[in-house]
Amino acid sequence: MNIKIAKRVREMPPSGIREFFDLVIGMDDVISLGVGEPDFDTPWHIRETGIYSLEKGFTSYTSNKGLRELRVAIAAHLKSRHGLLYDPDTEILVTVGVSEGVDLAVRALLERDEKFIVPQPSYVSYGPEVLMAGGTPVYIETTEAQGFKLTPEQLRRHLHRSVRGILLNYPSNPTGVSYTRRELEKLAALLRQSDLMVLSDEIYGELTYDYEHVPFPALPGMKERTVYLNGFSKAYAMTGWRIGYAAGPEGVIDAMTKIHQYTMLCAPITGQVAACEALRHGAKDILEMKREYARRRTLVHQRLNQMGLTCAKPDGAFYIFPSIKTSGLDSKTFARRLLEQEKVAAVPGTAFGRVGEGYIRISYASSYENLKEAMDRIERFLKQLKS
Ligand SMILES: Cc1ncc(COP(=O)(O)O)c(C=O)c1O
Repeated sequence: MNIKIAKRVREMPPSGIREFFDLVIGMDDVISLGVGEPDFDTPWHIRETGIYSLEKGFTSYTSNKGLRELRVAIAAHLKSRHGLLYDPDTEILVTVGVSEGVDLAVRALLERDEKFIVPQPSYVSYGPEVLMAGGTPVYIETTEAQGFKLTPEQLRRHLHRSVRGILLNYPSNPTGVSYTRRELEKLAALLRQSDLMVLSDEIYGELTYDYEHVPFPALPGMKERTVYLNGFSKAYAMTGWRIGYAAGPEGVIDAMTKIHQYTMLCAPITGQVAACEALRHGAKDILEMKREYARRRTLVHQRLNQMGLTCAKPDGAFYIFPSIKTSGLDSKTFARRLLEQEKVAAVPGTAFGRVGEGYIRISYASSYENLKEAMDRIERFLKQLKS
């Protein structure tokens, strides 16, 4: 039988990260700086809470919106941490990771053929999510010269009627760049004059190193037009538990819940119980992991710049996005040859959009020793290229 796959899926490009990591499978002694997940295990007290919940028989579905206890804890956290007020009954939805949150929000908001702005370089799933919702991603390319940040001028040029919203992500995957309050206020001032909705993926918000992270809905006039997306994967090293959440206006959360109840039903209960514990007692864990990421950030930033792979010091997350232009190689060739010759896996910048050509993404969610060794190998690779 000739099985026919839907056109919109057939035409969707495979993830540039997956494509590259298929090469890594089966290779020994590779130092992988490619994966976007913490190298720490979930803190023990959180794991233990998950284990106890299973022992006690918490193995059922939860309410579609998520355990009320967790929604109340999220609301309390957003209030105490950022002064944000959300009603746990109507304005918060627990999702299967931020991944599901992005998908639901895009699908809830987009009419067929409407546009959604995606500044690039961007996280790999945004464009495909918009396409799967029947919309058209409008990629705005940000360059190294502008610090890989969307400028108010760029945003102004795209405030058309046919544009439904914008997907923001800061600190950013893949660049590690974030926005200061002043920079965000300038974007917010423009958005206030428009009808655009904002989906703000702030999954790395807690991993901001040099200044306070400002959530987008905390800016004047932004709460009513923002779906704030966050989760437990990165800050608490809980990628496998699959818990995220969306906080936003009641109408949008309602619409997202409708899709969620037909597609997911609910997020996994074990993860939800563990997430409650993370919010109750996990603040110290975040600080400890953040301290270690900051130490690695300094090492990687210094070493890359010393060897001529220039890059700005990341503001947050655990990614750095050095230029490899002086090597004379394109991103894919650089990453492939680095892998083959020195067994260091990094992701070609083009996985995050066309504007990523000339860059690679390095994740420093790897041990300090691994990173030192990887930097030595990259340096040796560059020397050999020149010889
Ligand atoms: C920017 C960004 N958003 C969302 C996700 C997915 O997160 P989750 O595990 O909560 O689905 C990632 C994972 O790498 C990410 O980098």
